[in-house]
Amino acid sequence: MKEERPEKMTNGNFKVVAHRGLSAEFPENTLIAFEAALALSIDFLETDIHKTQDNKLVVIHDETVDRTSNGVGKVKNYTLQQLYNLDYGSWKGGEFKGQNIMELREVLKLVNKYNKKLLIEIKKPEQYPGIEKLLLQQLAESQVEAENIVIQSFNMDSIKKIKKADLGYKLGVLISAKKYWYRLPNFKKIATFAHFINPNYKLVSARFVSKAHRHNLIVMPYTVNDLTTYTRLIETNIDGLITDAPNTFTDLKRGSVVFGANK
Ligand code: G3P
Ligand code: CA
Repeated sequence: MKEERPEKMTNGNFKVVAHRGLSAEFPENTLIAFEAALALSIDFLETDIHKTQDNKLVVIHDETVDRTSNGVGKVKNYTLQQLYNLDYGSWKGGEFKGQNIMELREVLKLVNKYNKKLLIEIKKPEQYPGIEKLLLQQLAESQVEAENIVIQSFNMDSIKKIKKADLGYKLGVLISAKKYWYRLPNFKKIATFAHFINPNYKLVSARFVSKAHRHNLIVMPYTVNDLTTYTRLIETNIDGLITDAPNTFTDLKRGSVVFGANK
């Protein structure tokens, strides 16, 4: 039987993932954006990791600091100390001036404090040999329970390396519109090493989701920021969504927005 839309949103199983924090309103991947998201009833915080020249894991989306700081150049060519000299807030608005780069270990402490789950995306692992090992070390050192961590990447080989370590973390594969616009991913193969398949929302259809579910894969598309897109997607039976505007969807989850109640 087809699940009713309001049930889907209120039964507690539908996951709202805050993409780079409450990034619609605050500078992405910074403390202020994370804290704003964590104060909401989200299920996961999402963030992206890169590695510095001195082997520290930092959270930032791009491989360069150009777009989200007042500096230029690749993260991998900076030491952590040098990254601290840049400002990660002003690009979003003068009122956010002074936001620092954050290390992953600080974000781990933060999610622990708020008792939330963290969805960690390994960015460009091909540029950072050994990043998987370093990530697993930092996770082991943190106080975060394995059940509160999901590690995902567009790079399936990177996720397979983590699977091999067998440390109990849930794993995910990201599916880009560019690579998969003409074919469906191999769900069966992916299910041998991952628990989540998180596609670009443009790729999502009822067929996509039912095939994923047949292999017990959880589907949380990115990046869904508006109710029109949500309305289409919810009919496909997705398990959650990754959004820059988690407040829109946590409101929906609490039922404060009446939405398609009788459909
Ligand atoms: O979590 C999924 C999403 O973050 C993947 O794309 O480019 O926003 O990191 P991107
Ligand atoms: Ca990401």
